[in-house]
Amino acid sequence: MSKYYNIDDLRLLAKKRVPRAVFDYADGAAEDESTKENNGNAFKKWKFIPDVLIDVSEVETQTKVLGTEMPYPFALGPTAISYLFHHSGEPAVARAASKKNFPSTLSSIASTNIEDYAKSSNGSVWFQMYVWKNREISYDFIKRCKESNYKAIMLTVDVPVGGKRERDLRSGMTVPPKLTIASIIDAAFHPSWWWNFIFGPKIGFANVKERFTGKKQKLNNIMTYMNQQFDPSVTWDEAKEIANMWGGPFAIKGLMTPEDAEKAIEIGASAIVISNHGGRQLDSAAAPIDVLPEIAKQVNGRAEILIDGGIRRGSDIVKAVALGADACLIGRPWVYGLAAKGEKGVETVIDVLASEVKRTLQLLGCKSIKDVKRRHVRLNKSFIENSD
Ligand code: FNR
Ligand code: LAC
Repeated sequence: MSKYYNIDDLRLLAKKRVPRAVFDYADGAAEDESTKENNGNAFKKWKFIPDVLIDVSEVETQTKVLGTEMPYPFALGPTAISYLFHHSGEPAVARAASKKNFPSTLSSIASTNIEDYAKSSNGSVWFQMYVWKNREISYDFIKRCKESNYKAIMLTVDVPVGGKRERDLRSGMTVPPKLTIASIIDAAFHPSWWWNFIFGPKIGFANVKERFTGKKQKLNNIMTYMNQQFDPSVTWDEAKEIANMWGGPFAIKGLMTPEDAEKAIEIGASAIVISNHGGRQLDSAAAPIDVLPEIAKQVNGRAEILIDGGIRRGSDIVKAVALGADACLIGRPWVYGLAAKGEKGVETVIDVLASEVKRTLQLLGCKSIKDVKRRHVRLNKSFIENSD
């Protein structure tokens, strides 16, 4: 794996390994993809101001969020249908994260179910929840998470409807992928992916599969599925009920304002995830890192703050901590790792980011992640006026 020095190296390998439509589903975003692009660029505007002559031979990087110890302030966030990216699917993701004691999050629309995912892990697992129109499906998730000893639930609130993802509209990506002329041509370029797809495990939404309908799922365009099944009328009152039903560490994922952070605290969330869904929903939404300072000020220690979107370097994670985050989630980076090299690829992503976090702390003159302060970063004002 030594050739893969950074996340982008794995992204490029992922692009070679899987069909174009599959890569585009992960790599793409909504409309002009301007939010996705800006999520990453926004980190680059923040510049470090390091301290020197501090003994950094040993550095402490561990932290705890959502009731879960973690060796570094980042965890694997929820992403849908991992079997699409590699035939080892979510169980490989759970194993890779567990081996290194990192928490990982199972998506509601994963291709492995709640019970099997927990069994593949060492127990540091979180569950991401969407609210189906058929409440029985979603509320049953809570019961199942309790039975399988999940540590936390995060309710994703930025998908009242699916974003307009034009790469997917063009490719006609379906779940499971359909055999068409285009896919048969693609098979010539990605024979091992297609072999595993045809002869390997059948891909579907494992948490809901045949569970309530008694019928075999007919899956199609993922957005069509989400728009048919998810309820866009969910409000804070129901979020509160869900938090109470769960009763454990609970996060609202996908909020972007101090006002909504305040509401999350009011309904009893122990954490928030500042997120624009990696730019996959509302295009032109601001970058999470840019709204983090004002939200951190409002929250003022009353809830844990997680953030995701555009994190591609350990230094991005350190910047987020300097600006008030307790931890970060990564989405595409581990999906690229999975698509590139299966379980080993996910491990490489974790190792790359962890070693970058450690080195950044050392170069910043911080003996511990707790020593990283607001004064260690400054906004480069030549890019944005009046924001710092
Ligand atoms: C996602 N994301 C996501 N979020 C969520 O709450 N439930 C989900 O099922 C999914 N599915 C999903 C699939 C894929 C392929 C991607 C790339 C992302 C969003 C994810 O949790 C996270 O918010 C973003 O991916 C963060 O941005 P980065 O790290 O990808 O830049
Ligand atoms: C996505 C949905 C599934 O971002 O959350 O693709």
